Amino acid sequence: MKLENGSVLITGGAGGFGGATARRLAAKGARVVIADVADERGQALAKEIGNGAVYVRMDIMDEASIANAVETAANIGPLRAVVAAHGGPPGPGPGGRVVGRDGKRLSVGVFAHSVYVFLTAAFTVTSYAAEAMAKNEPLESGQRGVIINTSSIAGFEGQPGLVPYSAAKGGIIGMTLTLARDMAPLGIRAMAIAPGTFFTFAYGQMTAEEANAKFAASIPNPKRMGEPDEYALLAEQIIENDFLNGTTIRLDGAQRFQ
Ligand SMILES: NC(=O)c1ccc[n+]([C@@H]2O[C@H](COP(=O)([O-])OP(=O)(O)OC[C@H]3O[C@@H](n4cnc5c(N)ncnc54)[C@H](O)[C@@H]3O)[C@@H](O)[C@H]2O)c1
Repeated sequence: MKLENGSVLITGGAGGFGGATARRLAAKGARVVIADVADERGQALAKEIGNGAVYVRMDIMDEASIANAVETAANIGPLRAVVAAHGGPPGPGPGGRVVGRDGKRLSVGVFAHSVYVFLTAAFTVTSYAAEAMAKNEPLESGQRGVIINTSSIAGFEGQPGLVPYSAAKGGIIGMTLTLARDMAPLGIRAMAIAPGTFFTFAYGQMTAEEANAKFAASIPNPKRMGEPDEYALLAEQIIENDFLNGTTIRLDGAQRFQ
């Protein structure tokens, strides 16, 4: 899939994965639309990238706002690729094990919130984007677009206390092949990336050294956290390689949680 003259929508575009992806895809000639709630960071990034990059405020909790971000990208478009790499607002209560040390169960609200942010909202982005891509003129290859969602290694093996997050990220893995099959007649591919532990804004309270000291031991090789540009590089390769479809790629330095 060639990106020149096409637009790319990146949810969480001002974040660690999103920002690195925006920089990399813009360098490939794409018009990137950075969709996020971090206005200052998003606007600064769009300015830094230049080359027609745009910041649009998009709240992943709000369907109309997602629809608007997709429309913005499609108007700059044709919308050729979506990389969904958003986080979300904090949940309505404390997380933890299904039954905590206090004997109390995890609230359904906390579970539903995580599933909404990391799975339902990813589907919302995917469905609006696919609808827009379906209107694209196909390229010579017959392809119209590609949608990349972000899973996590927690979708394969979640640590204790992460049931809602694991369920959501496992949902991304589960829906990717079915999405690819559904969208095949439209010439739209679906892929997912399942990252291990990467140093992004999500680890904002730690320095890179502190985070590496904490997590590097669980990563066999290379013995360090992932770098956001390594995620971006994989996103770029997925976009470019039309034969990648319907699967989730782990990107984790062989990290496995027990
Ligand atoms: N960093 C890791 O180790 C890691 C590992 C596996 C999966 N992931 C997944 O990667 C994705 C991106 O995470 P990241 O590590 O780049 O985090 P990040 O915090 O750097 O980026 C997330 C972005 O989402 C934005 N965001 C927050 N609330 C939002 C909302 N309501 N609407 C729209 N955007 C919102 C934030 O402003 C931020 O820019 C997440 O889905 C995360 O679960 C991260």
